[in-house]
Amino acid sequence: MPATLPNVLDDVAAEILELKKKVGATILAHYYQNGEIQELADITGDSLKLAREATKVDSPVIVFCGVLFMAETAKMLNPAKKVLLPDLQAGCSLVDSAPPDKLARYQEMLRENGRKFQTVTYINSSAKVKALSDWIVTSGNAEEIVRRVPDEYEILFVPDKHLGRYLQDVTGRKMILWDGSCMVHEIFSVQDLLKLKKQRPEAVTIAHPECPQNVLEHADYVGGTEAMIRHVGQFAEPMTFLVATEPNMMWQLQSRFPQHTYLPVPGVTCSCNNCPHMALNTLEKIRDCLRDGQPEIVWQPEFDRAKDVLAKSLLNPPTTAPVLPVGD
Ligand code: 13P
Ligand code: SF4
Repeated sequence: MPATLPNVLDDVAAEILELKKKVGATILAHYYQNGEIQELADITGDSLKLAREATKVDSPVIVFCGVLFMAETAKMLNPAKKVLLPDLQAGCSLVDSAPPDKLARYQEMLRENGRKFQTVTYINSSAKVKALSDWIVTSGNAEEIVRRVPDEYEILFVPDKHLGRYLQDVTGRKMILWDGSCMVHEIFSVQDLLKLKKQRPEAVTIAHPECPQNVLEHADYVGGTEAMIRHVGQFAEPMTFLVATEPNMMWQLQSRFPQHTYLPVPGVTCSCNNCPHMALNTLEKIRDCLRDGQPEIVWQPEFDRAKDVLAKSLLNPPTTAPVLPVGD
């Protein structure tokens, strides 16, 4: 998205654009950021697109509008860049569900029991967990990576049990599933979805594979956020879409394909169902981090190995992927 002034031009947005020029920064924003932030960003994307785009940035500074694991990924793939995250507290329930010491103990137990496995880890994980993994996947490349794991290995899939279960279905590979989930996608109300479908029988339901099976089985299309955009882009005539993912995604869909109607699938406890971690980033915090040069993602020892697993999984074409010595 071009760095033009946003429609609702307020003082903070103008300050950001000026500071951005002054420090030499590129703003990357995930589709789950609110519309103001997506509008201001130079690049919007899903986890995979943003990780790849971060490697092409030529400015010295990257402001990552997303959550901590995404900003860490950008840093690991671009060690020479200064990577800023507007709010360092922007975490993720999936990251929290896989403590690295617990994973290391579980892997050890599997090895002691003679199990030959590779660990395939969702990018929504800590750098320490990535360093314990053989592969990193996003919702955008998970199926391709799972198919690359040689048949003689079992797959330990960490930490999202719903994405793992979905991947088992589409690839036919049996997996050992870690018991983690996304607090946003976990709580969509199936009852409300069915009610909406009854009210709008013509509507197309699109759902993220982080949703539980009881939601996915009512979806017409299942895919990561970038795949959802591609799918919606195939419909030229005005349609209604029921959207089972973080609702800020609808801002991106609306701005690209305004002819359609987008209705959020409500959560069981909250009709808006926004990700509270993503919501920590604000225009004010973006301005402040550009002005202060912090919070900055600082290199951690575990990044040394995690970056190799990331690069092998996200950047290298299948035929040239090096085999890293871990997990068997
Ligand atoms: P994608 O960006 O891969 O669609 O993942 C969604 C998500 O939950 C990010 O936190
Ligand atoms: Fe984590 Fe879910 Fe929020 Fe994404 S939407 S950052 S997976 S809690």
